[in-house]
Amino acid sequence: MKRILILLVMMSAAATAQVAAVPSLAQTFGPYFPVGAAVGPDDTTGPHAEILKRHFNSIVAENDMKWARIHPAESTFEFSRADALAAFARTNHMRMRGHTLAWHRQNPEWLFQDANGNPLQPTAENKALVLSRLEKHIRSVVGRYRDDVYAWDVVNEVIDPGQPDGFRRSPWYLLTGTDYIDTAFRTAREVAPNAKLFINDYDTTDPVKRQFLFNLVRDLKRRGVPLDGVGHQMHVNIDCPPVADFVETVNLFVQLGVDQQVTELDMSLYHDSQDSYPRPYPVALDRQAARYRELFDALRQMKGKITGVTFWGVADDHTWRSSRTRTDWPLLFDNQTQPKAAFWAVVGAAQPAASTRNPGQ
Ligand code: G3I
Repeated sequence: MKRILILLVMMSAAATAQVAAVPSLAQTFGPYFPVGAAVGPDDTTGPHAEILKRHFNSIVAENDMKWARIHPAESTFEFSRADALAAFARTNHMRMRGHTLAWHRQNPEWLFQDANGNPLQPTAENKALVLSRLEKHIRSVVGRYRDDVYAWDVVNEVIDPGQPDGFRRSPWYLLTGTDYIDTAFRTAREVAPNAKLFINDYDTTDPVKRQFLFNLVRDLKRRGVPLDGVGHQMHVNIDCPPVADFVETVNLFVQLGVDQQVTELDMSLYHDSQDSYPRPYPVALDRQAARYRELFDALRQMKGKITGVTFWGVADDHTWRSSRTRTDWPLLFDNQTQPKAAFWAVVGAAQPAASTRNPGQ
């Protein structure tokens, strides 16, 4: 009995030593940039909270600061979920990014409707109405988190490379032209003069899209619109885009003297929307690890050009990449919140022989 007890104590000490031997992401990248994760209130307790406290020094609300959640009716704000996240960040000495103030998705219906519930038509009067709603929203939300949020995604996904002028035909655009962009940045600056103000988009490695984005950012800066940075979402997969394209994109925007961050990083194991696997297969996980390694090597080499890297989730057990019809495994921690091969590749350490390749997936 005594021997069994001693053995159990030794095994538990070994397990503790192994946990302690896992390098912290935040510490590893301390000299480079804060490492963030997109979260919800459920992540502030349990295993995800433990991962967050050890590996991340920045968070962003995955959904809880979006318009539909935080401002569901014209005179109703629902701050409780975002407040809980801000409190978690404060308690754990983490930074917080804010996402997002003007987007074409996750908006409440009232935002683009008149008092009778009819869709707003593009008139001068309705343009003024929508801009005043935007201004009020930003004053309330940015004002509330002025001491918590250090960087805002002020406008999100405004570029559509399929349009001749590159502007997405969102309700914002259809009702205000591009004036909503100016209003959003100017109001955010006024309310939170110390916050970094970002324009955020996906596929910024696409040459046509990034040129439209570049032209817009250059124009905003020339006209004195207070924009500080460009966010590259980076929802990538194990094949594309090439890391070299990302480096090229970052170097392009360096010319404009803007801050740059990776704002929504994850890496799907799928090449296209048709594939579906019951579980992640080793070749794909190895490929994912190699691609993450290549990306983070590039990020290290671009020290000073990238001021933040945020993953779009904590672990594979909660990711927008998984749907009812298929499961994906795009993050650094697996379903049991254990570090994957991709994690070890990112921190640049050998994966301990004792750990299975991707336990429990
Ligand atoms: O909360 C409701 C729940 O009450 C309801 O029962 C359920 C029914 O479908 O929906 C729940 O809301 C969902 C929400 O996520 C929270 O889980 C929405 O349907 C769903 O559309 C929403 O998806 C979010 C998506 O943005 C919406 O566009 C994802 O979680 C979120 O990860 C994703 O994040 C975006 C970034 O904001 C911008 N860049 C792309 C990125 C990935 O799409």
